[in-house]
Amino acid sequence: MAKTADLIIDGKTYKLPIVEGTENEVAVDISNLLEEAGVITLDFGYKNTGATKSAITFLDGDKGILRHRGYSIEDLAAKSSFLEVAYLLIFGELPMQDQLDKFSDDIKRHTMVHEDIKKILDGFPSSSHPMGVLASMFCAQTAFYPESLDPNRSAEGVYLSIVRSLAKMPTFAAWAYKNAMGHPVNYPDNSLNYTARFLKMLYALPAEQYEVDPVVADALDKLLILHADHEQNCSTSTVRIVGSSKASIYSSISAGINALWGPLHGGANQEVILMLEAIRKDGGDTEKWINKAKDKNSGFRLMGFGHRVYKNFDPRAKIIKKTADDVLNKLGVNDPVLDIALKLEEVALRDPYFIERKLYPNVDFYSGIIYRALGIPVDMFTVMFAMGRLPGWIAQWKELRENKEPIGRPRQIYTGQNLREYVPIEKR
Ligand code: CMC
Repeated sequence: MAKTADLIIDGKTYKLPIVEGTENEVAVDISNLLEEAGVITLDFGYKNTGATKSAITFLDGDKGILRHRGYSIEDLAAKSSFLEVAYLLIFGELPMQDQLDKFSDDIKRHTMVHEDIKKILDGFPSSSHPMGVLASMFCAQTAFYPESLDPNRSAEGVYLSIVRSLAKMPTFAAWAYKNAMGHPVNYPDNSLNYTARFLKMLYALPAEQYEVDPVVADALDKLLILHADHEQNCSTSTVRIVGSSKASIYSSISAGINALWGPLHGGANQEVILMLEAIRKDGGDTEKWINKAKDKNSGFRLMGFGHRVYKNFDPRAKIIKKTADDVLNKLGVNDPVLDIALKLEEVALRDPYFIERKLYPNVDFYSGIIYRALGIPVDMFTVMFAMGRLPGWIAQWKELRENKEPIGRPRQIYTGQNLREYVPIEKR
């Protein structure tokens, strides 16, 4: 018999259906509650609200589990490539070699961007943050591919938009950086793979020979995998909610890029390095900064600590910490902020404030240290996150469309004035 939950309001019992997931997650389905009982549920920040059923990513925050389409993040990070993970997320299965070759070739065919998009780029002052530039260029694609605005276009049309999104993202990302530097842009070198192609566009200077360092390319590929999807986080929910209005894939993802930018979400990786630098300049007294983070009046939080879902450890942070060690060793980089980060983590993890609130280092705590070691500038850190998260956004947008989900539209409890009579301005 189907399970139900009883909800009693004013002595009347309402039977609510129970929905179970394949990993035994349980939800109470309240979708008919307003109709049946005249009440809504209230949940600030959607802390306990499931907005969809999804077959893409499974996450258990208490156990520190993250799986994409059933494969553990540990396995994927150790054994696959970013494009392989992108294929898995978007199409549901790991690709066969010929499928991956075709996917990669299709992407290569679309790495160039329309020269007129470059004119849009030229309009941005070099003081622009690359995230704003990235979101704008991504959205500008709607103008260059107007057919993408048709919500009922064919599967081939959707595939083309997916491929174009993945193909142009590294070009946009590298160009956003070149714009900030005031340097001429580089065009994509399609003899290189996805990550190496991006690095060459990012770093190559006109009069210099540039060879991609395989250590740097491999580390970056792993970082992109670790960011590839994270179920219904702030930016992904944004992509889904924008997509639910039948907006185009480009505008939906552009909205996701903007949501990611905030310092409580993807922008945290930039904030972590700025914080570690500030602690170093201040003499490296980690206890002092921990105390500041505990003081609610200081307005300061330990960036890279805490997570809405992970309350034990963030499995991505574990992999990243190890990768940071490997990368720094391989590249022979000695970054003093790594010592500060390790000290900060050690102090925080034995402090009752952090223990009681289950605050642990998240994915962003160590990623910035790797980006720095790879020579990626601080303003570009969140752009790297966006590049990594793109397959997840695409997969979630595609799933939403395929499941024909309704437009996203939360309710509210109104707390404003009751009806009052209009008073003409001369009588107020
Ligand atoms: N430093 C100090 N105190 C913290 C921190 C922190 N980083 N994070 C949470 N707290 C405290 C918070 O003040 C609250 O205390 P109290 O119960 O006494 O009021 C308690 O812990 C719960 O915090 P919350 O803000 O209600 O938790 P949340 O689930 O709404 O927020 C978070 C999650 C990630 C936004 C938050 O932990 C945070 O601001 N962390 C720093 C920013 C950061 O690193 N963000 C990256 C997240 S991982 C990458 C991604 O996917 O976006």
